Amino acid sequence: MLRFRGHGHHDPDDVVIGPLDLAARVDEALAVQAVAFGLGPEEIAVRRQIVLRHITYPGARALGATTPDGRLAGFVYGMPNDRTHWWSTVVEPYLRAQGHDGWLDNSFVITELHVHPRHQNRGIGRALITTITDGAAEPRSILSAIDTDSPARGLYHSLGYVDLARQVLFPSAPSPYAVMGAPLPLRRR
Ligand SMILES: CC(C)(COP(=O)(O)OP(=O)(O)OC[C@H]1O[C@@H](n2cnc3c(N)ncnc32)[C@H](O)[C@@H]1OP(=O)(O)O)[C@@H](O)C(=O)NCCC(=O)NCCS
Repeated sequence: MLRFRGHGHHDPDDVVIGPLDLAARVDEALAVQAVAFGLGPEEIAVRRQIVLRHITYPGARALGATTPDGRLAGFVYGMPNDRTHWWSTVVEPYLRAQGHDGWLDNSFVITELHVHPRHQNRGIGRALITTITDGAAEPRSILSAIDTDSPARGLYHSLGYVDLARQVLFPSAPSPYAVMGAPLPLRRR
């Protein structure tokens, strides 16, 4: 387990990274995602069903960053990619057009990564994604992120993720996404 000590003796930013029972804590996770990423009540209800389905998929794993008083400061989850899963079917033609669709095989997908704004920029997001991918059997990792110069994209680039396709449109999502891939283990600083 990794510990992130804040600046003071009793700093509330001390968090511990460890396995997360996402089925039991889905509402806390979605509350973090809602404030980090911006989700309305209807989107939360939709995501809730999606997360509960995702965690039944073979090899799905989740990690949480927990504060000393037991609150969730951030979480990540993912799974071995399966070309029959919805996300994979959407990105496949975009990757194929770039000659990159081989990335969909033997790849660990990062499905969600979110850190509560109160706890951002302290290395928690980096620790969550490197720890979960260190536990993957696959030799590489893929994910999608809104196609803009965001902190998330900056973090992924610094970990070795490169753009495999850009301006990827998901049905019902207003913004285009970039699909990114990196060899595992992720690059250390
Ligand atoms: C993306 C996110 C999870 C990162 O979590 P975090 O704990 O703040 O990230 P860390 O502190 O581990 O790493 C920060 C890294 O992000 C990058 N970063 C941070 N702010 C940045 C900015 N304004 N511009 C570019 N890169 C930035 C840097 O690479 C930085 O690394 P550093 O250690 O060299 O400074 C968090 O910002 C978040 O939850 N964002 C909103 C939700 C979201 O977009 N999730 C991802 C969906 S794909």
